[in-house]
Amino acid sequence: MCGIVGYIGKREASPILLEGLKRLEYRGYDSAGVAVLADGALKLKKYKGRVTDLARNLNTASLSGSLGISHTRWATHGAVTEANAHPHVSHDGKISLVHNGVIENYLAVKKFLESTGVEFYSETDSEVFCNLIAYHYKKEAEDSPTRFLDSVRRSLRHIDGTYGIAVISTDCPDELVGARKGSPLIVGIGKDEYLLASDVSAIISRTSNVVYLNDGEIVSLKDGELNLLTNDEEILTPEIKQIDWDIAESELGDYEHFMLKEIFEQSGALENAMRGRFSDDKSSAKFGGLNVSAQELRQIDRILLCACGTAWHACLVGEYLIERYARIPVEVEYASEFRYRNAPLDKNTLVIVISQSGETIDTLAALRESKRKGYKTLAINNSVGSTIARESDGGIYQHAGPEIGVASTKAFTSQLHILSMLALYLGRLRDMSFQEGREYVEALKKAPALVTETVKLSGKILEISKKYKDMEDCLFLGRQDMFPIALEGALKLKEISYIHAEGYPAAEMKHGPIALINEKCPVIVIAAQPDIHAKLLSNIQEVKARGAPVIAVTNESNPLPENLVDDQILIPDCHRALLPVIASIPMQLLSYHIANLRGCDVDKPRNLAKSVTVE
Ligand code: M6R
Repeated sequence: MCGIVGYIGKREASPILLEGLKRLEYRGYDSAGVAVLADGALKLKKYKGRVTDLARNLNTASLSGSLGISHTRWATHGAVTEANAHPHVSHDGKISLVHNGVIENYLAVKKFLESTGVEFYSETDSEVFCNLIAYHYKKEAEDSPTRFLDSVRRSLRHIDGTYGIAVISTDCPDELVGARKGSPLIVGIGKDEYLLASDVSAIISRTSNVVYLNDGEIVSLKDGELNLLTNDEEILTPEIKQIDWDIAESELGDYEHFMLKEIFEQSGALENAMRGRFSDDKSSAKFGGLNVSAQELRQIDRILLCACGTAWHACLVGEYLIERYARIPVEVEYASEFRYRNAPLDKNTLVIVISQSGETIDTLAALRESKRKGYKTLAINNSVGSTIARESDGGIYQHAGPEIGVASTKAFTSQLHILSMLALYLGRLRDMSFQEGREYVEALKKAPALVTETVKLSGKILEISKKYKDMEDCLFLGRQDMFPIALEGALKLKEISYIHAEGYPAAEMKHGPIALINEKCPVIVIAAQPDIHAKLLSNIQEVKARGAPVIAVTNESNPLPENLVDDQILIPDCHRALLPVIASIPMQLLSYHIANLRGCDVDKPRNLAKSVTVE
């Protein structure tokens, strides 16, 4: 949710921290701050607002020093104020900390610290954490060379909840300490420097060598050395991984917004999802990292798909695809519900979690719960090295490239495409014929070209958006696998334009939502399945009869009668397995243009953050 960047090395820390924060801002953007240590003095600047505001108000020369920590916040405990912004400083001025996560027992710890005379300046759990470290620091032997590290380690024993932290001490001008439990943290290893960050995007411009911390690990970066240990003092050998990101991928280029850039990148994202993933006889898919044999997959009786938000919509589409092409029963669960529901699962159930970031806490918890119960787990994930990728038994990387816009677009369609490929693979292990498999592969390969054609609708959709930009309510309707696309269309519109939108199965409308329909509530109908066209036409008639404007998304070869619709978006004809991807694109473009016309901050919508790492 929030972003952390820390630096220790030979260069000026504050410009490096600010650059990292700018790249991390999509993680949270209500306030930001930097603390730098030089000559035993802590220099601190916090700002209520965006990183760019902080940068504008910060004189880097006055924050000179080569050890520092920084943070961009998404508020959990306490309002959006400068006092609640990080870094926090302990009451004695010795310890400074940035923290991602939530400390559940912070009230008890705060009460204890208050009884020792500590005063608090903010409403945050993070300030409590910072003072707990200061408390232990005071108790450690003054001459101990590991005094600072030990005080952090001891504090962690008294903390319930989740954290990714970076900490510095005025007494230790050569040491940066980090720790992780439930909130991502990585060490970047540069030339004569180390970085600590919650996300690779913060450090990619300085190094591609990283060490991913696991839960329960602490790192001390001191005197040019990296010491990694567990909370129980077991010394670990750091495993250095190489990140294969291209820095240009996370830059805006000529686009006005990341969201638009990412919509236009979808063709390439689908190419990447398919690269090297078809069988030699071109009748099936193949995946390198599943770690489940074909024999084991044939034994599977049921699949559980689990995720949050947009990725949950991908699961709903996956249910249709896998049941239709592989004939395996599928259930879909919100990750946040699954972990507390204690649902009885058949022992031959395969659990697949889907997550763009690979760090969503509820999805991670669902994965862990499934593993604890002994189920085989797979992850469809876009972030190499993420916690979900590392903890699942196997999986499929999306290779969609970094997604910076908070509203998920290319990650979603790439998840849909991978689910289509998985349905093909599972289908070919069961009843799907060689010929059907060959045709399916041929169809999948056409997806990038069809996407390129579909994004060209942007201009037309901009014109339609101008007519509807001032609406305050709208409905998205679809049937079968277009129902999840309707849900996704509604989510996209509400999250970036703040228009109230609902997604419904088209035929369910008359069981309640029809009461909302009037001339001020436009209805977007996805009517792109030739086999149920007539049914959708009836649903449209029901809407029209109540005076609502209708925007229809349908196939080029099957346009709707003009008198029935106010606006019509014609998408290219395609194989049934590709339709969810192609039909998603007009939804994305409509939301984008409407939000942009309303003057909304498309890439950083209010109250949201890219990756939700708190419950
Ligand atoms: O990183 P994840 O795929 O696990 O994220 C899940 C949701 O938080 C995410 O899809 C969210 O709903 C997006 N804002 C949707 O655009």
